[in-house]
Amino acid sequence: MTSGTLLRQITDYANRADPYPLYAELRKTPVARQEDGVYTVSTYWEILSLLHDPRLSSDLRNRTPQPSCALPVEEDPGLPVSFIRLDPPEHDRLRRLATRPFGPPKNPRRIFNMRGELAQMISDLIDGFQGRNQVDLVEDFAYPFPVTVICKLLGVPRQDEPRFHAWAEAIVAALDPNPAEGPAERQRTSDQARSELGLYLAELIEEHRRTPGEDLLSALALDQGPDGQMTSVELIATGVLLLIAGHETTVNLITNGMLTLLRYPDVLKRLRDDPGLAVPLVEELLRYEPPVQLLPQRTALADIDIAGTVIPRGAPIWLVLASGNRDPQRFVDPDRFEPERQDNQHLGFGSGIHYCFGAPLARLEAQLALTELARRLGNPRLVSDPPPYRQNPVLRGPRHLPIAFDDLLT
Ligand code: HEM
Repeated sequence: MTSGTLLRQITDYANRADPYPLYAELRKTPVARQEDGVYTVSTYWEILSLLHDPRLSSDLRNRTPQPSCALPVEEDPGLPVSFIRLDPPEHDRLRRLATRPFGPPKNPRRIFNMRGELAQMISDLIDGFQGRNQVDLVEDFAYPFPVTVICKLLGVPRQDEPRFHAWAEAIVAALDPNPAEGPAERQRTSDQARSELGLYLAELIEEHRRTPGEDLLSALALDQGPDGQMTSVELIATGVLLLIAGHETTVNLITNGMLTLLRYPDVLKRLRDDPGLAVPLVEELLRYEPPVQLLPQRTALADIDIAGTVIPRGAPIWLVLASGNRDPQRFVDPDRFEPERQDNQHLGFGSGIHYCFGAPLARLEAQLALTELARRLGNPRLVSDPPPYRQNPVLRGPRHLPIAFDDLLT
């Protein structure tokens, strides 16, 4: 099998439920040139090294025209590029500005202090299962939960959440390489959602400037730190980024997590008896079933000689995080799900300067959600295995996760 056909198999929906044997094949050539000019990197140490290499750019403007790659790229029509798609020094300035109100040094307790609110949101959603013996964990829990959290964090009024939900869905749909709608139609819907969301945020930011609250948008709009302030357009782009980056990813961590727990009922039972297990368990889920399977947006800024291959300047690079996470050169028995794995420096949140900004929040959301689901669902079981997956090979997870249960504990 050539590695060109291998990559097509990886993005092929037919293999979405279990791409891991294909990644094992891919790792036989750690850095491989694909037929469309994309360089895939599939082994742990090579991925880690490139994530820290300043010769890699996240800015698509550095990509020399290439034959079209198989995945669409996210763009921000009408909005400046957000910091996930920028290189230093702009990336670093904007990330520092965004970090100040989100965590240390200015607000070290922000996420920790959200524990109570997160727990309440989780219990309200599970209370909503009352009177039923089957739910779709995606629609009924894992989707609404992170949207409510990010809206609360940003300071979006509760009544506007459904609008946020619809915009986020339309924007994320554009990242799907094999949509039900045609690509042009999908891009148009996504562009429209992006510009509506941008306009909405612009108004909301003005409102927060006039009447500031304890939320992130107010802090970002008013705070004067050593780097000054974000401009209004930078602030809008950052707001859109925070909403989108933390959306489908957290949904998939929770659903992949529950799916895995239901496949390993002994672990589910242990979590019920010992909620402390949630911490290493979530790390293992980020390694074993990472919501972000690969990063398709990097470009080489120079010729890069790595693992016996020279990636030429301007070439697109795909860093296959999910494959690195199963690399036997790095992890003992990598295909084993081991919730108490000790040595677990997985790549689930990336690494280097773009390391996931929302990681502390995502971890907490997943730890609290999985613990409470394990505690409250009486005799939970999968209705179908594998469940139907989303099309998207990058942000991978079940589209629906029907779960049956006997009763609901209080
Ligand atoms: C389980 C949930 C999550 C996963 C698996 C995840 C994964 C990732 C990964 C792999 C990256 C690196 C991207 C790259 O190197 O190009 C990243 C970056 C980022 N994530 Fe997350 N993420 C999650 C949740 C969140 C949440 C909840 C937020 C927001 C509150 C968030 C905000 C961001 C931002 C802003 C970046 C860009 C950081 C930068 O460019 O410096 N993420 N995330």
